[in-house]
Amino acid sequence: MKPLVVINFKTYKQGKDAIELAKKIDKIDKNIIIGVQASDIYEITKATKLAVYSQHVDYEEKGRATGFILPEAVKKDKAVGSFLNHSEHKLSFDVLKGTMKRCKQAGLKTMVFASSVKEALKIEKLKPDYLVYEPPELVGGRISVSESKPDVIKKLSERIKMKFLVGAGIHNSEDVEIAVKLGAIGFAVSSAVVNAKEPEKKLRELISNP
Ligand code: G3P
Repeated sequence: MKPLVVINFKTYKQGKDAIELAKKIDKIDKNIIIGVQASDIYEITKATKLAVYSQHVDYEEKGRATGFILPEAVKKDKAVGSFLNHSEHKLSFDVLKGTMKRCKQAGLKTMVFASSVKEALKIEKLKPDYLVYEPPELVGGRISVSESKPDVIKKLSERIKMKFLVGAGIHNSEDVEIAVKLGAIGFAVSSAVVNAKEPEKKLRELISNP
C-alpha cells in the first residue's frame, strides 16, 4: 500500500509561495495531506484538490474572543482537518482534549502529534483521526526518525492499536521505506520538501520506493 504523505508547510512559505507549492504537490498526488497556515487555507482549497489541514485551531467558541482560529472558520474555508499538538505548537492535555471536541463539532478531522510512546498512548485514547510520532529533537534536522529511532517506531507498532505516521528529519526514500517496514502507515515531512530547490523532484524521490 502506498504510504500516506503529510507535508507540513510550517511558516516556511505563505501567501503566493504556499499556493504555488500546493499546486506542484497537487500535480503529483491529490491524496497528499498538506498542513498550511490558516490564512492560506481558502486560496489553497480553491486552487487544488489536496486534503488541506490547518496547522492549528483554537478551542474558543464563536463570540467575544479576539485573534483565535476557530474550527468553524477553517471548515468554512474548506479545510478537511487540523493538526494539533505539534511539538512546535504544544498544548496541555486538557486543551488538546477540548480542541479535539470542538473540531468534532465543526466536522474537522484531527491529526494529533506525539513526542513519545507515552504521549502517543495517552493521545490514542482521545481517538484522533491520525496520530503522528515526531521526536522533537530531530525535527528540521538531517537525521531522520527512521535512522535514529527505529526501536521507538517498532515499539509504537506493538503498543498502539490505531494506525500511525512518523516524522522528523525525513529526507530520502530509505527513511520512508524503514518507517513503513517498522509499522507506520505514512510519514510527515517539512523542510526536505518545502525548502527544496525543486520540491516536486524531492517529493517524487521520497515516494519512489515503497
Ligand atoms: O510535521 C512535520 C515536521 O515537523 C517534520 O519536519 O523538517 O523534520 O521534515 P522536518
